Amino acid sequence: MISIRTEREIDILRQANAIVAQAHKQVAKLIVPGTCTRELDEIVEALIRDAGATPAFKGYHGYPASICVSIDNEVVHGIPGKRMLRAGEIVSVDIGACYKGYYGDAATTHPCGPVDAVRLRLLDITDIALSRAIKAAKAGNYLNEIGTVIERTARQAGFDVVRNYVGHGIGVEMHEDPQVFNFDAGEAGPRLEEGMVLAIEPMVNAGTCDVRVKRDNWTVVTRDGKPSAHFEHTVVVRNEGGEILSWCDDPVWGIRDE
Ligand code: MF3
Ligand code: CO
Repeated sequence: MISIRTEREIDILRQANAIVAQAHKQVAKLIVPGTCTRELDEIVEALIRDAGATPAFKGYHGYPASICVSIDNEVVHGIPGKRMLRAGEIVSVDIGACYKGYYGDAATTHPCGPVDAVRLRLLDITDIALSRAIKAAKAGNYLNEIGTVIERTARQAGFDVVRNYVGHGIGVEMHEDPQVFNFDAGEAGPRLEEGMVLAIEPMVNAGTCDVRVKRDNWTVVTRDGKPSAHFEHTVVVRNEGGEILSWCDDPVWGIRDE
């Protein structure tokens, strides 16, 4: 069952997501060579708690941190630790918060210093895929139009979308119905209605879509070792297309209009 949220609930979801966006804004300034990923986690956890919210990921199925930091060949769910960022890497940061019982969830991928052309294009294409998907989060469309446009965008660029992990409904739980595939699932799925709230999160690989989980039982990496990018926004379905609740003014992602 896909929940339809009232405008009052959407306001609280917007507040939860604003906390997530504030955290992204602070993190962005620290994506420089030499930053330790654990530092990022500590800063975000403090910011979320100071805002009167709780980190949504911490303790979720035993996840040990408040954010996920996934570098280069890491796709998602990288655990912050002693590792330091290096120039040339791309760094996905995923942040979730729960505020007054409602969830915010958003991710973006940063270049650390100058990065090569493939990585730059991978960031570009994944952001464009998310932007198109948000436009497709329009009342009256079928859910599958979201995954279809993401897959088409990635493939046209010669990239591939991860199939083992998907976006999701979000509201009073971090993961609610429906699953939001990043590919054409082969059937239209439910019709989207105003007030449905979705976390849309394409993961795009420079090589093939094959992934595996590392020995830490969390970190998802590409099997071919090639880089991967991940962009996510929490979005409410509107008649005009998706409205971004996790809006961040710096950096901005998910609104690419080519
Ligand atoms: N944005 C991710 C998701 O929606 C983050 C989950 S990390 C976890 O699934 F640790 F909480 F699982
Ligand atoms: Co998510």
